[in-house]
Amino acid sequence: MTDARKTVLITGCTPGGIGHALALEFQKQGARVFATARRTEVLEDLRAKGMEVLALDVTSDESVRAAAASLRELTGGKLDVLVNNAGRMYTMAALDADIPHAEAIFNTNVFGPMRTVREFGPMVVAARGKIVNNAANAAHIPMPLHGVYGATKAAVLSFGDSLRLEMKPFGVEVITLLTGGVTTPGYSNERTTDIPTDSLYASVYPKVDKVILDGSSGAMPAEEYARKVVSTVMKPGAPKWFWVGSNSTVVWVLSTLLPRWLQDNIVSGMWGLSSLTPEKK
Ligand SMILES: NC(=O)c1ccc[n+]([C@@H]2O[C@H](COP(=O)([O-])OP(=O)(O)OC[C@H]3O[C@@H](n4cnc5c(N)ncnc54)[C@H](OP(=O)(O)O)[C@@H]3O)[C@@H](O)[C@H]2O)c1
Repeated sequence: MTDARKTVLITGCTPGGIGHALALEFQKQGARVFATARRTEVLEDLRAKGMEVLALDVTSDESVRAAAASLRELTGGKLDVLVNNAGRMYTMAALDADIPHAEAIFNTNVFGPMRTVREFGPMVVAARGKIVNNAANAAHIPMPLHGVYGATKAAVLSFGDSLRLEMKPFGVEVITLLTGGVTTPGYSNERTTDIPTDSLYASVYPKVDKVILDGSSGAMPAEEYARKVVSTVMKPGAPKWFWVGSNSTVVWVLSTLLPRWLQDNIVSGMWGLSSLTPEKK
């Protein structure tokens, strides 16, 4: 008997995070889910729920190719939805950034989706399916001390916009998630501990840390986020950019309707940068 369920592959499905919540929700809404992570042992609960699990490290060409080969065998070469979710955060001012670390963040957040699109894309084309890229509000609005992270997400947004045009002739839709706050361990996992002692921003890091932690404790639960995303992705004619997560509407208004000088003033004040002067660091 043929399996009529839509096939969905998601990167970065570690428990507690967005990928895990998306996997559960896609399955709930009737999809055949391929949950992936760098370490498959973290996917046991999803396997126990009937999902198929694959090892996939988005920074490794070999790993992405191997996962694509497995999927080709399992589905006969078709994939209805590819969700590029795996990502890492980096909180560090430009003057303090560790470049090898910044490169590693780019490798995951930007080259990761590029690799998966390269390898899984032909299967999405065969299914006339959808590609979903998880960007962030930070792709659209400046987020002080997050220039590296914001740059990766702006790159994801831009990559998705070009990809949309390239995929359209083949009936493939490309959706970028402009994700706002979602309650996950994402920030705590990547919390910065190696701030240079002579940093010009030494007084700002604790304020930024507080803004993010306060924001994430009151953020949208991952399950609610997943419900909104999956319902939107599964319907025909999904929006090309989907603003979702806490504060998304506020960020949309700030970044779309206000002039850049006003955005800069509001954001600088919010993140404690306006208290810095050449004399007072
Ligand atoms: N939570 C938010 O408020 C928020 C806001 C905007 C955007 N986002 C975006 O949403 C996505 C998910 O974030 P999250 O909050 O759920 O964070 P999370 O809980 O830390 O999840 C990140 C996932 O990415 C995986 N990952 C990291 N490097 C990987 C690699 N090389 N290969 C494969 N998987 C890798 C992690 O796996 P390991 O467990 O192996 O590290 C984990 O499964 C990210 O792209 C993030 O930028 C989140």
